[in-house]
Amino acid sequence: MRRNIVAGNWKMNLKFSQADELISEIAQELSEYDLTDVDIILCPPFPYLELASDASESSDFFVGSQNVSSFEKGAYTGEISAKMLASLQVDYCIVGHSERRKYFLETNKDVAEKVNRLLEENITPIVCVGESLEEREQGEYFSVIKTQITEGLFHLHSDKIEQIIIAYEPVWAIGTGKTATAEQAQEIHSFIRGLIAEHYNKKIADNISILYGGSCNAENATELFAMPDVDGGLIGGASLKAQDFVTIANSF
Ligand code: 13P
Repeated sequence: MRRNIVAGNWKMNLKFSQADELISEIAQELSEYDLTDVDIILCPPFPYLELASDASESSDFFVGSQNVSSFEKGAYTGEISAKMLASLQVDYCIVGHSERRKYFLETNKDVAEKVNRLLEENITPIVCVGESLEEREQGEYFSVIKTQITEGLFHLHSDKIEQIIIAYEPVWAIGTGKTATAEQAQEIHSFIRGLIAEHYNKKIADNISILYGGSCNAENATELFAMPDVDGGLIGGASLKAQDFVTIANSF
């Protein structure tokens, strides 16, 4: 179902005590607002998932992980399975983030497998797509995004695709302070929705949440979220500051 969503991707930051503190601060900030129209998701590193998941029971946020194994179980040292995440009451998982594609050579095929593992455990995948600066400058961004969406998601049956959240994160905007303009974001979000309408149907496309990510912050969130096809944000740096993160959640 299409919802307004703000998800915080903490990436590889914070010690245990700092994570504990940030979760408490966010819970406290959230308690001061009525945010029933927004789903708020915290995606801390794996070791802090249980902490977040316990705190979520008495607060208004959900918990997501930043990655999952494409394998189901067994001899895969260092990997974390979708079943393990489900056993920690993790409801969401980021998949195919550009940092995973770049540093861990994750492919669209890996993304498709990870999506399958997550759906088997009723965990909602937040599937990231986005072009590099070079791809944008060479005008290849539509085809790059089309390939990421097609190869990562279009193996899914229509009743499964509706369970997916998509995040458009232009690589050139991540951690750079260089946000896409609201118009640039809208152009791609509308393009992605069009691809889904074409492959499935318009009703399904209209039912999917598409988030923007890349230097989204407390100052620019309102303008971005006002766009008709932008249903919220996947926030990096600004999600590590409780007040900023909750301000972003209040930006619809
Ligand atoms: P920043 O908000 O730090 O640019 O990161 C965005 C991101 O990668 C979220 O997944």
